[in-house]
Amino acid sequence: MSARRILIAGNWKMNGLSADATALAGGLAEKLKGAGAVNFEMLVCPPAVLIPVVAKAIAGSTMQLGGQDCHMNAKGAHTGDTAAAMLKDAGCGYVIVGHSERRTDHAETDAIVNAKAAAAHANGLIAVICIGETEAQRDAGKTLDVNGSQIAGSVPEGSTAANTVIAYEPVWAIGTGRTPTSAEVQDVHAFIRAELAKKIGAGEAAKTRILYGGSMNPKNAKELLALADVDGGLIGGASLKVDDFWAVATSA
Ligand code: PGA
Repeated sequence: MSARRILIAGNWKMNGLSADATALAGGLAEKLKGAGAVNFEMLVCPPAVLIPVVAKAIAGSTMQLGGQDCHMNAKGAHTGDTAAAMLKDAGCGYVIVGHSERRTDHAETDAIVNAKAAAAHANGLIAVICIGETEAQRDAGKTLDVNGSQIAGSVPEGSTAANTVIAYEPVWAIGTGRTPTSAEVQDVHAFIRAELAKKIGAGEAAKTRILYGGSMNPKNAKELLALADVDGGLIGGASLKVDDFWAVATSA
């Protein structure tokens, strides 16, 4: 809704080889070209090693390209990591930071996520900053507390509607087929926007896209994307098939 352009983002996670990436990204790029003017922006975030393959497959389309993570430092002795400047150089416009799988698998704290988002900004990338409560936190009635403190801690100075997207991903909804009710999603998104306003000002917060993520699929996308403070989706499983991802996007 509103002036915020819907963003349909695919998080491929650690899936696919080059042939899969070419077929998936190429298939989506063809659909985008064929569709002409659409009311959404589409983004794919492949594994780092597949970014050049995808860049080639989407050339000439409006498809956006993003990384799944970046390092907080500009360069240097960080074996296995990818700098934001490298993503930019490879054709990315976006990078996901602070996904719950990174927070869990790599012990990423809000401070680390904050520094990664700042590195993304410094290199001209739009940071997709992920937040979300675990099931235990939700059961303990801490959903708003957790999301509020993640916004406070993970969103760096200098964030604007132009360089930042927030993704609300309840950890218990990721890959489980379970989602909060639409009313719950809207409530949390409205709360997140209010918390964001405290950090970046009401004007910027009103323009910032807040995505929902966690088991979004062709069946539930229409209802979720129609919510007042939901400005798109961050989609894992359903982003791995051309028809499913396209169905999610076109239900916006
Ligand atoms: P899912 O993943 O759509 O497979 O639940 C979403 C995400 O983790 O970004």
